[in-house]
Amino acid sequence: MPATTAPATFSSLRPAPAGRSVEILDQTRLPFAKAWIPLARRDDAAHAIATMQTRGAPLIGAVAAFGLALAMAEDASDAALTASAALLAATRPTAVNLAWALDRLEALLHPLPPAARAEAAWAEAWAIAHEDAAQCAAIGAHGAARLLAEISGIGGIDAPSGNPIGTRTLAQAGSVGTATAAPRPLNIMTHCNAGWLATVDHGTALAPIYRLHADGVPVHVWVSETRPRNQGLLTAWELAERGVPYTVIADNAAGLLMMQGQVDAVIVGADRIAANGDVANKVGTYLKALAARAHGVPFFVAAPVSTLDFACPAGSAIPIEERAGDELRQVPGRDAADRPATVRQLPAERPVANPAFDVTPAALVTALITERGVCPASDAGLAALYPERASAQ
Ligand code: MRU
Repeated sequence: MPATTAPATFSSLRPAPAGRSVEILDQTRLPFAKAWIPLARRDDAAHAIATMQTRGAPLIGAVAAFGLALAMAEDASDAALTASAALLAATRPTAVNLAWALDRLEALLHPLPPAARAEAAWAEAWAIAHEDAAQCAAIGAHGAARLLAEISGIGGIDAPSGNPIGTRTLAQAGSVGTATAAPRPLNIMTHCNAGWLATVDHGTALAPIYRLHADGVPVHVWVSETRPRNQGLLTAWELAERGVPYTVIADNAAGLLMMQGQVDAVIVGADRIAANGDVANKVGTYLKALAARAHGVPFFVAAPVSTLDFACPAGSAIPIEERAGDELRQVPGRDAADRPATVRQLPAERPVANPAFDVTPAALVTALITERGVCPASDAGLAALYPERASAQ
């Protein structure tokens, strides 16, 4: 089936009313204001990614693709194509989706005559957006089935991989929304924001939660705040928009809740998954994985194919973005007139370290959930789901 390339309105990205450009939700203004901003030029897209007006691994890949399409409308020469791809690739280093999208466009555009590039780039950027939305919907279906099997202890075999699923017993997990016992919600913990705000649509880690909610399974989400950028507050906002029950927690409360048996599963997204199954995701993910392992809580990672980096052998090779120290020295908030304002909590000269991501070793990951199904976090698991990608390395 040919890829869909038509402009379409998605949850986090839509065509601009006039001309060949797109609009994104400005995530720096959420959860207080829902404002769409236009990306009319390459530099608008680069600025939006670097300043996190748009964020989340799959979404910044799609926005980078639109950025390169906008660049081609400005100057479609060979030199401009190479320079614009490099400029966009430099905006954020950890999420491989960015490089993946730009590589895909460059491979398409370089062989074309410059006069044909703007049109082709525009169509390919929309193809990437449509694919991301479809892949995230598929992650939702696979993830929902896996979470239910895991928690109910029903067990079974995951079709694509042939792997056994359902490792906990009903006695451990309680009864989730069954007719024979008083339903209690499935308590799922997540970190950062891996919902429809972080993708073109549906989300990665949140997609199975939305799917369960839509299917009538009672769910409740523990949302960790995710200092210093507080992406958890974006998660809370989008769950509220869709009517999913949640509770925001301080990042450091996660271990206690797991110890108390209040967490049935943890599910997070990813910014890059190495060939061996190691996972780079928002800083703090690793600590949640350690706590989950200590308390026997399953720990899932959900991501589409654009997040898989088969050329990266292990997590130690993943570049970790170091962001500005002022993200820690200042706390964002609102002033008395409800305008955006920051409060300084540390003098400017105080030394801080601000790694934006960490790496969770594959051994701590119960399973990866992708658009193709569920697999172990390992070379063999990924190769079984993506034989064409694994063998290409
Ligand atoms: O720095 P951010 O907000 O772009 O980081 C986002 C994350 O780490 C997400 O958890 C990850 O990209 C998965 S998004 C579907």
